[in-house]
Order: sequence, then C-alpha cells, then structure tokens
Amino acid sequence: MASDQSPPTAAPTAAIVLAAGIGSRMRSALPKVMHAIAGRPMVAHVLGTLAEAEIAPVVVVIGPDMDAVAKAVAPSVCVMQKDRLGTGHAVLQAKDALAAFKGDILIAYGDTPFVAPETLRKMRAARLRENKNGQKPSVVVLGFSPQDPAAYGRLIVGASGLERIVEAKDATPAEREVRLCNSGIMLADAKELWDLLADVRPNNAKGEYYLTDIVGFARKAGLGCAVVEGDTEELLGINSRIELAEAEAIFQRRLRRRAMENGATLVAPETVFLSADTKIGRDVEIGPFAVFGPGVVVDDNVTIKAFCHLEGAHISAGAVIGPYARLRPGAVVGKDAHVGNFVEIKNAHLEDGAKVNHLSYVGDARVGAKANIGAGTITANYDGFTKSHTDIGAGASIGSNTVLVAPVKIGDGAMTGAGAVVRKDVPANALAINSARQEVREGFAAWYREYRTELKKVLQARVEKEKAKE
Ligand code: UD1
Ligand code: CA
Repeated sequence: MASDQSPPTAAPTAAIVLAAGIGSRMRSALPKVMHAIAGRPMVAHVLGTLAEAEIAPVVVVIGPDMDAVAKAVAPSVCVMQKDRLGTGHAVLQAKDALAAFKGDILIAYGDTPFVAPETLRKMRAARLRENKNGQKPSVVVLGFSPQDPAAYGRLIVGASGLERIVEAKDATPAEREVRLCNSGIMLADAKELWDLLADVRPNNAKGEYYLTDIVGFARKAGLGCAVVEGDTEELLGINSRIELAEAEAIFQRRLRRRAMENGATLVAPETVFLSADTKIGRDVEIGPFAVFGPGVVVDDNVTIKAFCHLEGAHISAGAVIGPYARLRPGAVVGKDAHVGNFVEIKNAHLEDGAKVNHLSYVGDARVGAKANIGAGTITANYDGFTKSHTDIGAGASIGSNTVLVAPVKIGDGAMTGAGAVVRKDVPANALAINSARQEVREGFAAWYREYRTELKKVLQARVEKEKAKE
C-alpha cells in the first residue's frame, strides 16, 4: 500500500521478526519479547511500528514453548526455530512462509522495540539511492554509534560503502575500535537475501550461522551494501530487567511528552505512568502519581487528581476523578460525572452527572444520570458463585453505607436510608430503609463516663495494695 511518506518506487516490503531467543539474562519463565514496556509486550511494539510503516506480511520467528508469543502477534504468522543456531539460521526459518513474496524483506528484532517508522522509511529510501558506481545497494543495514560498542557487531565501511560486518568476538583489536555498530536491523531484496543466506556457515567464534555474513558475501558477489544511521535511544536492545526498566523510562518520557503536546497538563509528568495505548484528550488535567494501565480513554476537559489508578476505563468530557480513585476494566464514566477518593469502579457505567464521591465499591452496575451514591456504598455483586448486576435509576439517592445486594434494581428518583441493606428492588421515587429503630437512653453517656472513672480508681487502689504487700 502506498502512502504519502513512503518512497513512491519502494518495493513492497515484508518483515521477519527474530524472537526465538529465550533471553536468559532476563531470568524469567516468560519469553523475553513478552516482557512489557508501557503495558504492551516488546514484540507488540515492534509489530505496531511495522504496521505504521506499512510493512507486511510479517513473519515472527519464535522458539519452542512460545505459544504466548504466537498469541500476542496473531494474526502475524509464526515459524519455529527448534535449535537456536544463530541469526542467519533464524531468518532462514521464515523462507518457506515468504516463498511467494517478491520485494524487500526487513529483518527486525523482537527485543529492539523502539525503532521509529521514519527510520524504516529511510532504509527503504536508501535501497533506491545509487552509489558512486551507479549501483543501488542490495543490502541496507541500520547502524548506530552507542556509547559502549561492547558486544555489538562492527560495521566496516570502505570507500565504496559498507564492506562487511564483524562480530565483536571475531574482530581484530583494530576492528573493535570501530564505533559504528550493527543494530541488527537489515533490509534486502528477498531473492538476494535467500541466495546470500544459503552460503552462511557457522565457522566463527560462536559457531553460529551469522546473518551478518551476508554483507561480505554480497560485496564479493559485486552487489552494493549501505548503512543508514539511527539514534542510540531508538536502537536500544533489551537483554536484562535493568535494560527493561531503562527502556520503560525512555518510553514513559515519550508518552508524557506526547500527552502534553496533545494538550494535557501533567502537573508532575515524571510521576505519571502511561500505557502505549492511553488516549488523552485536550485540556485534561492530570495530577501527580496517576497510573494508566492498558485500555484507558480520557476525553476532553477531564480532571484526574493525584494518586489515581486507571485501567480499561473510558472517562467522558468534564468528569472529575480522584484523588485516590481506582477505575478497573469496564468502567465507563459519563460526562461531568464525579468519582471521588477511595472509590473503586469495575465494569460499571456511571451515566452523565452521576456522583460517587467517597469510599465506595461500584461493580457490575449502571448508575443512572445524576444519581448520587452516598459514602461507603457497596454493590455486593458476588455471592461466591456468580456475579450479579445492580441497576440504579437516574436521579436516585443512595444513602451512606448502603449495601446493594445484587441482582437488584433501584428505580429512577428512589432513595435508600443510611445503612440500608437492599435485597429487593426499590420502585421509582420510593424510599427503602431497613435499619433498626433507634433507641434513646437519656443521660446514659454521662453516667457511663462517671462509672468508668470510678472503676479506674478502684482498680488502681487494688494494684497499689498488692504492691505494698510485696
Ligand atoms: C546480533 C548481531 C550483531 C548486532 C546485535 C545487535 C549477528 C551474528 N550479530 O548479535 O552484529 O550488533 O545483534 O543487537 O547477527 N535470535 C534468534 N535465533 C537465534 C539467534 C538469535 O531468534 O538462533 C534472535 C534473538 O532472539 C534476538 C536476535 O535474534 O532477538 C539477536 O540475537 P542475539 O543472540 O542477541 O545476537 P547478538 O549476539 O546480540
Ligand atoms: Ca543481543
């Protein structure tokens, strides 16, 4: 599919995402690429970028026991690499799946989640650019110059472009001085890629089939190779939990910046945590320490006060949330509705202008427009076996500390008394009360205080008497 941004003559481009590594340095039962950044598995970030760059189809190379990855990347095709014999071998596993594909193939890594679609477009553009010899490069490698080149492959560039890639373990001391490194991401014509890969042999320090060998092979065959440089932050590879946390920090900074650019005020941005899919409208105010899990949509003019935790929730225009509110999946907050401190909302629709301001649990419920839920109200939605629904009509007024034992229905405009336990439906505009009648004992409090004071004196005297005996 052509777009304004993609070069008009660029070949259709497919992708192979390498994700078979177990990532032993993560020390995890979870495959490395399933670890999340901003609430989304690393590999899903990669697929998102590929989709944005209009690169399709995508084949993901996974290892054995990685059903979770296959599920996360569906409907992209997965192929399995049973033995982890190196990056070249991994790419070859996708050959059958892409046998019919004609065009370019991009090789991406599941653990390098931040590559920008723009960088991929630059690589595609580079495939069309002729070098001094009037040659379009057959292989384009995405390079970068990290602070510490350490274990990265080095890009050896000569007068006529990229000559070869040498792995750190196989490099001479002079080659190790080269700062331009291989990010691992590569673009090549499909047919040439398969031809070049056929010649790769595991005759190197690691005894692996190196994908990187194809650059030297291409040059020997008289084909051109080129480098496009990306920035260090976007090519960060994640191998440990420490790098995962660093990546999270980078991504959070981007998300916060984006929210602010789009017109939200973040009072203390560094304390707000967002998810990759968080949608925030204009003139939204977000207080310190708000946490957005996956699936949150915030419309315009919403205020989210400090210390809220939101997940799978839709908040409509003008609503005020928090401080200290928790919205769980399925929470839908209507226009100008209020959710106050220590209120938990789950799978419930608060219609426009409804208020649940203090210390309440509203789950599996509808709260009608402009209804007011008193402090401490609980929807008892679970009897240990099934979850049941509570329906509260428009304009209803629920007294403090009401327990609504679901399934139950409160009619429009109805009221419940403080402390009511509501087990039966309440008709519209009716009042439900069932707390015990109040008894008043005149003077009791004063008598009781006096009694306790006397008692204290008697007990103290007894203790002193015992002491004197000793
Ligand atoms: C590779 C590159 C190196 C580059 C670096 C960037 C080669 C030979 N080396 O080295 O030049 O600087 O990446 O991070 O390509 N994988 C498989 N199956 C395998 C082996 C690897 O799927 O059999 C996947 C891994 O899950 C990972 C990626 O390929 O996502 C890179 O593999 P890794 O072993 O980390 O390569 P490096 O040694 O880091
Ligand atoms: Ca690596």
